[in-house]
Amino acid sequence: MTKILINGGKRLHGEVTIGGAKNSTVALIPASILAETPVRFDTVPAILDVKNLQLILRSMNVFSTFENGFLEIDPTHIIEAPLPKNAIKSLRASYYFMGALLGKFGKATVTFPGGDNIGPRPIDQHIKGFKALGASVCEENDTIYITTGPQGLHGAEIFFDKVSVGATMNLIMASVRAKGLTILENVAREPEIIDLATFLNNMGANVRGAGTDTIRISGVPVLRSSAVHTIIPDRIEAGTYITAAAAMGDGVTVKNVIPEHLESFTSKLIEMGVRLRISEDEIYVPATGHLKPVTITTAPFPGFATDLQQPISPLLMKAEGVSTIIDTIYPQRIRHIVELRRMGGDISSLEGGLIQVNESPRLVGADVQAAEIRAGAALIIAGLMADGQTIIDHADHILRGYEQIQQKLTDLGASVAILDVDLPSLTP
Ligand code: UD1
Repeated sequence: MTKILINGGKRLHGEVTIGGAKNSTVALIPASILAETPVRFDTVPAILDVKNLQLILRSMNVFSTFENGFLEIDPTHIIEAPLPKNAIKSLRASYYFMGALLGKFGKATVTFPGGDNIGPRPIDQHIKGFKALGASVCEENDTIYITTGPQGLHGAEIFFDKVSVGATMNLIMASVRAKGLTILENVAREPEIIDLATFLNNMGANVRGAGTDTIRISGVPVLRSSAVHTIIPDRIEAGTYITAAAAMGDGVTVKNVIPEHLESFTSKLIEMGVRLRISEDEIYVPATGHLKPVTITTAPFPGFATDLQQPISPLLMKAEGVSTIIDTIYPQRIRHIVELRRMGGDISSLEGGLIQVNESPRLVGADVQAAEIRAGAALIIAGLMADGQTIIDHADHILRGYEQIQQKLTDLGASVAILDVDLPSLTP
């Protein structure tokens, strides 16, 4: 089991460059099988999720190479084959193979995916959408079987009962080659959805309205790639480093960001008293003085991202007063709380899904466990702030989504080591 060791209390300074967005990447890789040609991506993050997605592709005779952030995938000899259960279960986003395989072959068999343990994560909206496109769906022994008749998939009008990133992405992939017009309403507006639509449109797809709450997709028979797709910067990784810099920095520049993707987050930091200097594609975080407490309510984009609710918690402990967080999207995303308390953090989960964070004058290093990726990010930041050594166990969860985290933090002046690391190999 991978562990991350942090000797806390070191001040951070310098520059850190943000990688490509994990949540785009994990959709773009499955989407690549829709192409009739090889596809190429740039600024792909070197994270465990990419390695596992490459393993899933290989089981379908789809070979890929990954070097220096450049990923090439050749789906031209794809075959229908059972997908490897362990890799599928390692990340929740493997459910994108449902939409991608359905779009490619008109059928899909996918084991129920794993991923972060952040409370119930139903996929009823995905299933409702597949059925509306003409598919039959049944579930048996943890596996979802999706099939279509000889007519294949047809366009449909689908109104989602809940705004869902995953269902929006999956339905785009399933309908991009379906016959006729599909209209998706009440969809998620996350930047990663625009990234997927851009990738598909550059291959000849007709996806309009990504980034608004209605997306119209006119099916096309063939998708061909001719250009490299550069993945958008990871706004959650950026928010994590900005938080670390606000907590422990003496001046840190976070580079390769799209500030518009982070507005709900940066505006909260500014409200706290962090004097961010935001330019076109970088954000400078100066050393902070007195910080004010804030109230945070997570919401679908452009609201405050649920993925940043945990990482910002240790910073709230520096604010002079009581801050509150309500995570309306994943109210059970609270597994960092017990670990932060072990480090001396005054943070509690109250009735009604409220998280209360009180000023906590001193954090101390401790042995803690990363229950999932963003809980782990919170522990990293707390470890940087704490006196003494913090050992984060189950750190594989963190490496699922944060590329070169040891190197990036070390370059900023932190003292961080990784034990028993299982980093993505260049080629699976
Ligand atoms: C994605 C992100 C995750 C982020 C989340 C919310 C990826 C790989 N993961 O997860 O990092 O925290 O968006 O921004 O991109 N829901 C239903 N039925 C469904 C689908 C979702 O009830 O069929 C609910 C969920 O339980 C949740 C809410 O809708 O309460 C939003 O979930 P969704 O946007 O689908 O999250 P994911 O796509 O799983």
